Amino acid sequence: MNKLRNVSFVLVLILLLSVLPIFAEGQQEPVGPAAPKAAEQVVLTNNIPKGDLEIFSWWAGDEGPALAALIRVFEAKYPRVNVINATVTGGSGVNAKAVLKTRMLGGDPPESFQVHAGQELIGTWVTAERMLDLTPLFEREGWMDVFPEDLLKLLGTDAGIWSVPVNIHRSNVLWYVPKHLKDWGVEAPSSWAEFLVIAPKIQAKGVVPLSLATTWTVNHLWESVALGVLGDDAYEALWAGDIPWTDARVVEVWETFDKVLEYTNNDAASLSWQQATDMVVNGQAAFNIMGDWAAGYMSTTLGLEPGSGYGWAASPGTDGSFIFLADSFGLPKGCENPDAAIAWLTVCGSKEGADAFNPLKGSISARKDSDMSLYNVYSKSAAQDFQQNRIVGSLAHGVVANEGFMNDFSTVMEMFLSSRNAQQAANACQAIAIQNGMTR
Ligand code: GAL
Repeated sequence: MNKLRNVSFVLVLILLLSVLPIFAEGQQEPVGPAAPKAAEQVVLTNNIPKGDLEIFSWWAGDEGPALAALIRVFEAKYPRVNVINATVTGGSGVNAKAVLKTRMLGGDPPESFQVHAGQELIGTWVTAERMLDLTPLFEREGWMDVFPEDLLKLLGTDAGIWSVPVNIHRSNVLWYVPKHLKDWGVEAPSSWAEFLVIAPKIQAKGVVPLSLATTWTVNHLWESVALGVLGDDAYEALWAGDIPWTDARVVEVWETFDKVLEYTNNDAASLSWQQATDMVVNGQAAFNIMGDWAAGYMSTTLGLEPGSGYGWAASPGTDGSFIFLADSFGLPKGCENPDAAIAWLTVCGSKEGADAFNPLKGSISARKDSDMSLYNVYSKSAAQDFQQNRIVGSLAHGVVANEGFMNDFSTVMEMFLSSRNAQQAANACQAIAIQNGMTR
């Protein structure tokens, strides 16, 4: 009976997914570098950049100060360019990506837009042949030696290099306030099993054990649970299509996730990621798992001192592993002012730009030569972990899966949140992995 229900659930899901609006090309490509047929290269000129430059991102409001600092560096160098800082608010680009898609398909691309390195860039915009190859810019600026090789691989395919990275963020971070934990007599848990033991004790004090926010942050939490349960090898094997989603270990991820959700706040769906962070800061919640833009928010916006005002640890069971993601900017074909766009990308990839942007953002520089004296104690520890840890990619922030899979995963997640059936979710994920070319 259960089996029958699972089969019909998957069938309904496949049917549902097949009618969702998709990029046909993006859906069919296998994992790994795509190879677009006719790569069009950026043309570097000696023109002095002028006119309008529209920079499109989701770094609005509390997320804005780092971008504003980067724009200031740009404006000092290119005073004849009028920067239009076009932002669409919404964490992780949930709204911005939809607006961007409409604009790109409508033939109205901005000069440059924020995009995650990895499959979000390659599996969506490069596969759809909407981007200019930036190889000449990388060569002119000497960037092939400046950015880590593994990162360059996520920005490029056999046919070109498609965007300029501005940072490296860490996804698997557990945030807390040291003083609060001391008052409550608990420590940061080092495994999910440990979390599940201390969570009821925290709850008994009238405190939410783990704060959570709107839908995309649920996916964000899921990837930390997945890594904590699976370990590095199996986590990577999942994305490489080497173990199926129906594997017992993956079903266990969903089962653990189900238990963890029991200790989150009921109003999660209506909160922004900043509000979930606020719950920790205010003592309403003990922990939150969020990328280290939360460090940027707590330091830059809330003025807290890393170490005393807020503390951090790797999310449970992931010590020694670093779920990474990188924000980058690319140059879409057909934009109105490519000279200004190239100038912008030059600043994005520069040492000066990176060291103005990242200390405010909570991320570390994507460059290997950044001036670490400009960074706070949290960022210094992240930089050290990035050197020493095993690096794996983020699902929620575009590294390991194309947008087709990501969108479908969100649908599965919604279904899981109401059904709480781990086996069904695993089966459904296997179906969408096949649908999005993510199996071998
Ligand atoms: C991520 C992005 C970060 C930060 C975060 C919250 O996807 O890479 O830079 O903006 O979303 O919005």
